[in-house]
Amino acid sequence: MTRFSPELQLDNLGIDLIRVKKAKILDVGCGRNADLVNFLRNQGIEAEGIDGLVHNEDHLIQGWVLDLKSIPRPSKNYGVVVTHMNPSLYDPRTDKNEKNAENFSWRAARIILEMLRVVQQSGELRCFPSLKFLDEKIKRLDLPIEHEPSYFKGRWILGHVPVDVKPAYQDMFDYRTIIRKD
Ligand SMILES: C[S@@+](CC[C@H](N)C(=O)[O-])C[C@H]1O[C@@H](n2cnc3c(N)ncnc32)[C@H](O)[C@@H]1O
Repeated sequence: MTRFSPELQLDNLGIDLIRVKKAKILDVGCGRNADLVNFLRNQGIEAEGIDGLVHNEDHLIQGWVLDLKSIPRPSKNYGVVVTHMNPSLYDPRTDKNEKNAENFSWRAARIILEMLRVVQQSGELRCFPSLKFLDEKIKRLDLPIEHEPSYFKGRWILGHVPVDVKPAYQDMFDYRTIIRKD
């Protein structure tokens, strides 16, 4: 597996270490070696990681984030949740066939909502690459807001909880930040 240095991951995610020093951070799809998690912990930051390929330790959770409640943590547990190069959100192979793309979008939407579940009020979810490509697909699905986690007029609806989806730094960088509003 290609490994990305923690410094590159932080840069891609737009994370400023000084700003997040006091935040509790979760890295979703942290990789077998949990490089970013270990780097953050060495800086004194309370970081945890989850990945199907990682071995369980106090701060590392072996598991796949695929649906609501698949992160074995209470809601609103983290100030910052990040996910870097997570193929469950971006795998282009599913794009070729519309049905697969639709299934993929639903799966990706559920993963995003599960990540948002564990974000604190005013906390943030940062994804690299950008979710823009996903936004477009989910908008095309024209989801009914009552039934499923959905994206509606630029807002994710998480249960009844609205969140703002913002282009970070006016789209200068290829990532997005989602701020949980309550
Ligand atoms: C390309 S690696 C990136 C690892 C690390 N984030 C980095 O950027 O160096 C992708 C990782 O995401 C993990 N992954 C993919 N889908 C996942 C999911 N649904 N839940 C948890 N981990 C997932 C894989 O097991 C793999 O370790």
